[in-house]
Order: sequence, then structure tokens, then C-alpha cells
Amino acid sequence: MHTNVYTISNVNLKNSGYLKLCATTLKNGGIGAFPTETVYGLGANIFNAQAIEKIFIAKKRPMDNPLIAHISNVEMLHSIVTSVNKKSQLLIESFWPGPLTIIFNKKDEVPNIASGNLKTIGVRLPNNDIARELISLCDFPIVAPSANLSGKPSPTRFSHVEFDLKGSIDFIIDGEKSIFGLESTIIDCSNPTIAPVLLRPGSITVSMIQKVIGHIEISTHLLNRSDVPVSPGMKYKHYSPKATVIVVVDFKKLITLAYKHLNNGEKIGILTSHNKDYINSNFIILNINGGKNLYHSFRKFDFLKVNTIFVEGIKETNDNLAILNRLKKAASLYIT
Ligand code: TXA
Ligand code: MG
Repeated sequence: MHTNVYTISNVNLKNSGYLKLCATTLKNGGIGAFPTETVYGLGANIFNAQAIEKIFIAKKRPMDNPLIAHISNVEMLHSIVTSVNKKSQLLIESFWPGPLTIIFNKKDEVPNIASGNLKTIGVRLPNNDIARELISLCDFPIVAPSANLSGKPSPTRFSHVEFDLKGSIDFIIDGEKSIFGLESTIIDCSNPTIAPVLLRPGSITVSMIQKVIGHIEISTHLLNRSDVPVSPGMKYKHYSPKATVIVVVDFKKLITLAYKHLNNGEKIGILTSHNKDYINSNFIILNINGGKNLYHSFRKFDFLKVNTIFVEGIKETNDNLAILNRLKKAASLYIT
């Protein structure tokens, strides 16, 4: 399959013929990748079940893992959800456009393949001009998971999408790198009789949300108290590079361990907030930049054929949940 690549900048967006071509492709049942402020997404028309199936095939994604709907304005929400309760409304007013996905009860018009057969659908209004203009040209919500092969780190740059999906999707928009570099926060407010539940931590933190709607529960799965996933996506291994990932909280311990592996003939990578990037043949240091560079670094380490990645762990607080969650999903060993 031929994949069209379109370089689009935020300047002159409204006149971009390329963006119109992308919208036409989606209207005709095609699929394509576009930038968002969190990670790149792989989109299809939410009302076209056949187009959505192509996403699952291209990504090799399990069919029961639901997708997130992206809208370009709040009115569009009403075409896919049955109602908006008070807490959801407050979250919308505070955090949209932005990296917060809210779970709603879905309308029957939304095909079951979009929601992994759930009665609910996650929705967000992205804070990215290219994404919003594309949705608005389509005039329907675009369902989009992250535009990576299933199991690989989410793509935060055009080159990541190109590496994983070129040849298996209709187009890729080459936009800027994602500002946040981690997937959106997901909160379930769909049952107004219980406290809202955080399903996936992200850049919109627990304390930011609690300031707006009061107490929320953190999914027991995130707290490691239960093995039963609440959100289907939680049961799949995610975000892992090919190299073995070892998280070490104590930086001195990390360095000692890294040298041990280096002396055993391994190529090693260190991901830290302490140092600037440094690359030599067997020893590579990359700066994590508050999580923004996590996925990019994982991919770069794999590209450079690193055997073991040592990641400097961070203290566990409610506001650090996003990065901790991604590290725990990627790591085979977590040393305190
Ligand atoms: O930042 C993001 O959210 C990116 C960009 C492209 O918007 N998208 C993204 O999608 O990360 P994806 O498919 O890689 O992750 C979506 C997660 C899955 O783990 C899925 O299980 C969960 O959202 N999810 C979607 N709909 C849900 C629902 N109705 N109930 C519970 N979880 C849901
Ligand atoms: Mg994903």
C-alpha cells in the first residue's frame, strides 16, 4: 500500500490543500496519522465501522481495546454521547482543548468496534491546530488510537509513525513533535452515582482534576491492588522498547549497576533528569525532560541497539503517576 506523506505547518493551515486531501481520504473510508499535543494518532471516521477495522489491522491491535474519539468543538460531542453530566461539564470547561479524555455513555450511532463493545466511549478535544482543523474539515469525530504498532512506544514524532506504519495506512501528516509526549489522562465520569475514576494518568494530574470536581478514585489497577483491568487497554503490555528496561530509584545504585553491565560487554543506555545527552559507542545518556522524551528515548535506544536501559526512577506522588505508570509498564525490574 502506498502511504502519502504530507508536511503541514501550523502557519497557513486553513489554506492547506494537503489537509483537505487528508479529510477527503477519511471521508472515503481511509485511515491516516496526524499529530496531537499528546502523541500522534491513527484516525478514521467514527461512523464507518469498516474504516475503523483497518486501524486495528494496521496497528495489529486486539479488537476489544476501545478507541478514543477526537472532536473539534464541544457541539460535536452531542453527536456521539447520550448526555453530559455536571462533573464532565466542569472538566470540559477547565481542560478542553487539552490532554484529558472523558468517558461518556455512547449513542447507538457509534459502532461497537469503536468502543470495543463497551456502552461507553472516551472523547477528547485535542489542543493541536492540525488535528482540530482536520476533524473540522471532516465534520465528524475521528476515532484514533496512538499511531504506533501495538506494544511499541507511542509515537511523539512523525519519524516514529513512519517507522511503524508507512506502507500500511493511507497518509501520515508530518507535523511538529508532540508537546506533552505522553498519552492523555483518562477519567471515567459516566456513572454519576459513584466518584469519578482515573483510568490512565497523564499530564492533567489528579490534583488538577480534584480542584475542579472534588474527590476522585484512582483505578485499583493503577495502584497495583488488583490484577483485574477496568479499562480493556490496561491488560495489554505497552510502551516497551526492545531493550530490557531497569528502573533504579537511587541514582548512585543506578550508576554502579550500569557499569557492571557495561563491563560485561553490553551496550547500555541511561535515561535521567541529571545529565545532558551524551552518546559514545557503548554508553548513551539521554535526558528524560520531565517525561516528554520518554518514548522518543526508548525508540532512539532501540535504534542504537542498546541492550539494557537504566532509567532513573522518581518519587511516587499523585502528580508523578503518569510517568511512573509508563515506566512500570515498560520495566522488567524496578529497584528502589
Ligand atoms: O493522548 C491520547 O489519548 C492519544 C491521542 C492520539 O489522542 N490516544 C491514545 O489512544 O493514547 P490509545 O488507543 O493508544 O489508548 C486509549 C486507551 C486504551 O487503553 C483504552 O483501553 C482506553 O483508552 N479507553 C478507550 N475507551 C475507553 C472506554 N470507553 N472505557 C475505558 N477505557 C477506554
Ligand atoms: Mg496506544
